[in-house]
Amino acid sequence: MESVRGRRIVVGISGGIAAYKAIEVIRRLVDSGAHVAPIMTDDAHRFIGPVTVSALSSEPVHTSLWDDASPIPHTRLGQTADLIVVAPATARVIAAYAMGFSQDLLVATLIATRAQVVICPAMHTEMWEHPSVQDNLALLRSRGVIVVDPQEGRLAGGDVGTGRLADPETILSAIDSALSGSGRDMEGLSVVVTAGGTREPIDAVRVIANRSSGKQGYAIAEQAHRRGASVTLISTVERPVVSGIEVVPVETAQQMLDAVSLLAPSSDVVVMTAAVADFRPVHAADGKIKKHNGIPEITLEATPDILASLGAAKPAGQTLVGFAAETDDVVANAQGKLQRKNLDMIVANDVSAPGVGFGHDTNAVSILLADGQQIQVPLATKHTIATAVLDSVVKSRTTPRP
Ligand code: CTP
Repeated sequence: MESVRGRRIVVGISGGIAAYKAIEVIRRLVDSGAHVAPIMTDDAHRFIGPVTVSALSSEPVHTSLWDDASPIPHTRLGQTADLIVVAPATARVIAAYAMGFSQDLLVATLIATRAQVVICPAMHTEMWEHPSVQDNLALLRSRGVIVVDPQEGRLAGGDVGTGRLADPETILSAIDSALSGSGRDMEGLSVVVTAGGTREPIDAVRVIANRSSGKQGYAIAEQAHRRGASVTLISTVERPVVSGIEVVPVETAQQMLDAVSLLAPSSDVVVMTAAVADFRPVHAADGKIKKHNGIPEITLEATPDILASLGAAKPAGQTLVGFAAETDDVVANAQGKLQRKNLDMIVANDVSAPGVGFGHDTNAVSILLADGQQIQVPLATKHTIATAVLDSVVKSRTTPRP
């Protein structure tokens, strides 16, 4: 957590049972050298005591627009922050922030800042899934706010479902990646990222698909955008994304190839995060295949290898990054792909390991570079993996080649 050392971080705590987890986030930030200015909403006081928050933070807790020694605490807190994190963020705080309704010190501070904001929602599943909450979060995301999605698990009152505040490790990792020393070190670069798994039609309703969620590709695209790059995301999945990233929706390997081929020749960096199907049905039926006709025999053919064709036509100065999902001999297999497909870098992950790869919020990878260097990134969030991948891209572009 070197990135937080000496930085001013406002930690906003709103009223939810998960408020106690904010204490761990504060403690870890202070231990890592950050200056933490805490804000609690009135409702947060119902869950944790201000004495604990003040004792662990770098300054006493702020609670009101009016009681503070300074007459305008929200502008001081907002203007001096390097980052504001709200954990937990209730549906009400999210709505107020999205609408610019400065109901209390926390929301007023969020509106009075130009710093990066990280919102960590926590609420019951029904509330989390309500269109008003999702629309407000989509709006905030489109404005560049980082949203750390809640997890599935036990909720207050014994219910189980999605809505549990992300664990402190995930929140800290999102803060770390938002503050990573990199700044705008990708300014002027045009970057293409592919994300998600392709879907190859069998008939009008059925497809051959895979379990890729697109989360890693989105994390890379969003971070490249934050670091100043002009980013196009070619994606098979629809996820909320920060405005400023151009999204090209595709479904099949062929469509992805067409979209990438158009952009790659003029791109500085191409990151093929997508899980492209290796096989597709030779013929997709126009209508729905009916079962009374018996079990169909589906003949498959190979899809185009997009990455290999990009490698074969790579323009001078372009950085081409592949991903390799492996279950055995991870490094050796990935090394083979790096050479065969003429890549500058390959990010290899062992998808058989727990918590790694498809659908998870975490990943553990080895980044292999064409010059033989290897960088190990142990189990971390996909934000952190994105940081490591883009750090390697930037470094390889600024280090003269032997
Ligand atoms: N890839 C691609 N086009 C394909 C298949 C894969 O561009 N038709 C890309 C992926 O986006 C990824 C990399 O190639 O960046 C490696 O994908 P992977 O499926 O691991 O490798 P394969 O080449 O399919 O090799 P294998 O089946 O032997 O694992």
